[in-house]
Amino acid sequence: MFNALVVEKDEESGKTSATVEQIGEDRLPDGEVTVAVEYSTVNYKDGLCIGPGGGLVRNYPHVPGIDFAGTVEASDDDRYKPGDKVVLTGWRVGEAHWGGYAQKARVKADWLVPLPKGLDTRRAMAVGTAGFTAMLAVMALEDQGIKDGPILVTGAAGGVGSVATAILSNLGHEVAAVTGRPEQEEYLRGLGATQIVAREDLTDVTKKPLEGEQWGGAVDAVAGAMLGRVLKQMKYGGSVAAIGLAGGPEIEGALITPFILRGVNLLGIDSVMQPYDNRVRAWQRIARDLPMDKLEAMVQPATLSDLPDLGRAILKGQVKGRVVVDVNA
Ligand SMILES: NC(=O)c1ccc[n+]([C@@H]2O[C@H](COP(=O)([O-])OP(=O)(O)OC[C@H]3O[C@@H](n4cnc5c(N)ncnc54)[C@H](OP(=O)(O)O)[C@@H]3O)[C@@H](O)[C@H]2O)c1
Repeated sequence: MFNALVVEKDEESGKTSATVEQIGEDRLPDGEVTVAVEYSTVNYKDGLCIGPGGGLVRNYPHVPGIDFAGTVEASDDDRYKPGDKVVLTGWRVGEAHWGGYAQKARVKADWLVPLPKGLDTRRAMAVGTAGFTAMLAVMALEDQGIKDGPILVTGAAGGVGSVATAILSNLGHEVAAVTGRPEQEEYLRGLGATQIVAREDLTDVTKKPLEGEQWGGAVDAVAGAMLGRVLKQMKYGGSVAAIGLAGGPEIEGALITPFILRGVNLLGIDSVMQPYDNRVRAWQRIARDLPMDKLEAMVQPATLSDLPDLGRAILKGQVKGRVVVDVNA
């Protein structure tokens, strides 16, 4: 028997409830590799899946947790053997498939990535899907060629934004951090931000075709009105890596002008179906380019029983940095 956060749905009312339960291994789904999970984390999608599901969860009872790190316990696949340290993000684990909010998980071998040297399972989940995606965004900006000038990071005090800020600053870029939480200024400066931009400065929708050129690149976790404004403020030839929609799914006020008059690039970043080779590359870059002292400064420890509250908090944009869930605590 092992502990898992199980979400049940009452078919009549449609309401869900999440509680920590002891379940047997016979309840694990099919898969080639059984992992003794050590750590997981909390992402926006987890908030949805711990709660009403947001259309992501198909079958109940459900174990959420879109990412985890742990040690291989049993494997029917030649690539993995007991004792190997592994990390998993994406592939709809924790949504369509049972996820990491449990002491054991069983998954396809194709979905796992061996932990690179320099990262242990706790640090891997301090990074988590948010940090992994932030690294993918930085790699995408680099592939396009980062222009001179500050790199703007939106939703900076959140998970994606915190890791993007720390990586970009460590790589020697000037980072401008957008936040709606002025009380997080010291935290963001500690991660390496040299400029703090108030969220309100970027949330008015304008009809202007372009604004003054300010940013050499941008990592955007917010979309909504903010992305519409950021595109108009990019320097000539600059790129915006679009990761998330914390501010809404539309790009409000967006016009074609930044693309055709300034050659701005909008780069879509998806972490879920990312090919294996790029996953390995991103985890190796994280081990090399993310300073571990800054990563520690982002960490908020948690246990399985904290998850229902944390799920609600992340949906309200109230989680700072990176939650690390010790599933054995
Ligand atoms: N593409 C992918 O594969 C992928 C992977 C991971 C995450 N995501 C998405 O990326 C987004 C960020 O994820 P996360 O884990 O960093 O979430 P998070 O920790 O909740 O951070 C989001 C941040 O956005 C800001 N924010 C929240 N609501 C806002 C609003 N209405 N207007 C403007 N800013 C707002 C807040 O930052 P401040 O308090 O600093 O303002 C918040 O901390 C989510 O939409 C998530 O679903 C996508």
